[in-house]
Amino acid sequence: MSTHKDQTKAVSDQDTEGPAAPIIFFFIIGFAASLVIGWGIFPKLLYSQKHQPIDFNHAVHVEEVDDGCESCHYFREDGSFSGIPDLESCMECHEDVIGASEEEEKFVEEYVVPEREVPWLVYSRQPDCVYFSHAPHVISGKMECAECHGHIGESDHARVYEENRITGYSRDIWGKNMIGIAKNPWERMKMDDCSKCHIRENVNQGSVQTQKGGCFVCHK
Ligand code: HEC
Ligand code: HEC
Ligand code: HEC
Ligand code: HEC
Ligand code: HEC
Repeated sequence: MSTHKDQTKAVSDQDTEGPAAPIIFFFIIGFAASLVIGWGIFPKLLYSQKHQPIDFNHAVHVEEVDDGCESCHYFREDGSFSGIPDLESCMECHEDVIGASEEEEKFVEEYVVPEREVPWLVYSRQPDCVYFSHAPHVISGKMECAECHGHIGESDHARVYEENRITGYSRDIWGKNMIGIAKNPWERMKMDDCSKCHIRENVNQGSVQTQKGGCFVCHK
């Protein structure tokens, strides 16, 4: 009986000895856990990874075509931008398999032969409510593709496409960095990034004038 009492007393003495130590210990554990969740696990849960249907190699193709980027991404007479080339423009060269690569063979078998358009994923795709046109930026504004897209045109593999599971938008809009810091202009294309440049360049022709410029410059 008495030994039992002594033990309880001993334990409670220990408990009251230094309450700060366990608090600090659990604080550190909790802090470390939230960092792991916030920086490691949360982004993996938030974004699903998708691969382009075909691993397109820009570097090889820029060498093979006559007019560089414009062979595939050009402006039509009416100023509209051609975007990603359709299957027909690939068929000029890939009617039949011309090389030894597995990726080309897959492309010819799965798309060229059945004449099926490739469902490319667009990294820079904006929400439907946003209006964007290449002509004012590339033709009048003389901006480089890389300013907004980074170095896709020089790459020899297609990047992984990351889709936000909540909004369904591409990660390129919010940016790679979880807290939204961008070192290069192409790392992020949120509303404020468009606005920042528009304010600087004085692009401000909307009907409703606000600090961000008329909303209807960029919204339909
Ligand atoms: C032979 C045709 C061809 C040529 C030449 C070409 N591209 Fe592409 N480009 C494509 C195809 C196909 C895609 C879609 C697959 C992909 O994203 O890799 C694409 C996608 C892109 C995208 C991705 C846009 C987005 O947000 O998803 C950019 C940017 C781009 N090209 C820039 C360039 C630049 C810059 C050059 C010149 C240095 C160039 N391309 C030359 C065929 C071409
Ligand atoms: C001007 C001719 C030309 C055009 C147009 C062209 N290609 Fe190619 N493509 C080539 C050549 C040449 C190769 C290299 C073949 C080899 O030696 O493996 C190649 C390689 C490829 C490969 C294999 C790449 C790799 O990394 O192994 C794929 C996939 C491919 N092309 C898809 C496309 C698609 C999609 C389009 C249309 C958007 C297209 N090509 C348009 C000439 C062309
Ligand atoms: C001011 C920024 C900016 C510049 C400069 C720019 N782009 Fe884009 N690009 C975008 C945005 C934003 C989108 C997505 C548009 C949308 O979702 O409606 C896009 C979409 C694209 C697409 C996919 C189009 C589609 O819908 O199929 C291609 C390909 C592309 N750009 C290539 C280029 C090339 C090549 C250049 C250089 C000649 C270039 N871009 C210059 C911002 C830019
Ligand atoms: C680095 C600078 C820059 C960035 C980033 C940029 N823009 Fe622009 N934008 C311009 C300039 C400069 C013009 C005017 C070009 C001209 O017509 O002389 C313009 C024009 C436009 C126009 C046409 C306006 C009109 O009334 O003619 C639209 C629409 C537009 N931008 C939308 C966007 C959207 C949406 C984004 C973001 C996804 C964006 N821009 C990002 C510089 C930029
Ligand atoms: C310079 C171009 C630009 C201007 C001006 C602009 N927006 Fe945007 N807005 C965007 C872009 C690009 C997006 C998509 C990227 C994002 O969510 O940040 C967006 C997204 C939004 C969204 C979220 C929609 C969604 O589907 O997620 C709302 C709401 C919005 N804008 C309202 C406004 C209002 C209100 C104004 C006027 C005060 C305005 N915008 C002016 C470019 C612009």
